[in-house]
Amino acid sequence: MSLLAVRGLVVRMGALEILRGVDLDLAAGEIVTVLGSNGVGKTTLMRAISGVYRPARGSIQFAGEEIAGLASHAIVARGIAQAPEGRQIFGAMTVAENLRLGAAVTRGADRAASLDRVLSLFPVLRERYHQRAGSLSGGEQQMLCIGRALMAQPKLLLMDEPSLGLAPKLVRQVFGLIAAIRAAGTPVLLVEQNAKAALAIADRAYVMDGGRIVLAGEAAALARDPRVRAAYLGGHVGG
Ligand SMILES: Nc1ncnc2c1ncn2[C@@H]1O[C@H](COP(=O)(O)OP(=O)(O)OP(=O)(O)O)[C@@H](O)[C@H]1O
Ligand SMILES: [Mg+2]
Repeated sequence: MSLLAVRGLVVRMGALEILRGVDLDLAAGEIVTVLGSNGVGKTTLMRAISGVYRPARGSIQFAGEEIAGLASHAIVARGIAQAPEGRQIFGAMTVAENLRLGAAVTRGADRAASLDRVLSLFPVLRERYHQRAGSLSGGEQQMLCIGRALMAQPKLLLMDEPSLGLAPKLVRQVFGLIAAIRAAGTPVLLVEQNAKAALAIADRAYVMDGGRIVLAGEAAALARDPRVRAAYLGGHVGG
């Protein structure tokens, strides 16, 4: 059974239909990636799942319950946390304060345990704990963004472009962390421009275009698909 089941999801912005009927599944333990060019609706899909945008039509079932249309805080409380596009760190607040915001839905004892877990996963956040978040490097801010989401002890982590703007060494580090997060029991829905790295780490993948899913399958199979290679892997068809 799917942990997350999206069916016929439509999101409108004014007169524009941004998502035009999206179906997507994620099972417990999976890393599922969503690929696609700029402006095809990936972030809109993530925001609809996390309750930032209210769907016009369709269904989003999480752990067997309908969550479409719930407020974002209610969705976090059900167990879905998001490391959003652009990181959205509060620069004037400290690392500690940013992490505390992520834990707003957990109880006191759980909070101490999550903090411990997050600081062991990201030693750099322990070193910078009382520093203003705005003074962190881009890579450190990405760690803080992911750490803040993990503070909610999610049953599903949504990650929107976690490797964007990072140097190759940090990109590898971020993908290593995604593998570690899944290995620790948290499935991940991953939006990425780095299709090669995303397909290498994911179990299954979806390709979006124009607000719709246009391809879906096992990540390894999509990585070999000539259409995917030509459009997203910079490869030659058949090469
Ligand atoms: N709040 C909004 N109001 C109006 N249009 C929007 C809004 N948010 C997104 N859009 C439009 O919806 C489309 C999909 O945007 P979205 O951010 O979901 O794309 P994306 O696939 O995440 O792109 P990128 O790879 O550049 O992050 C775009 O055409 C965008 O301009
Ligand atoms: Mg986006």
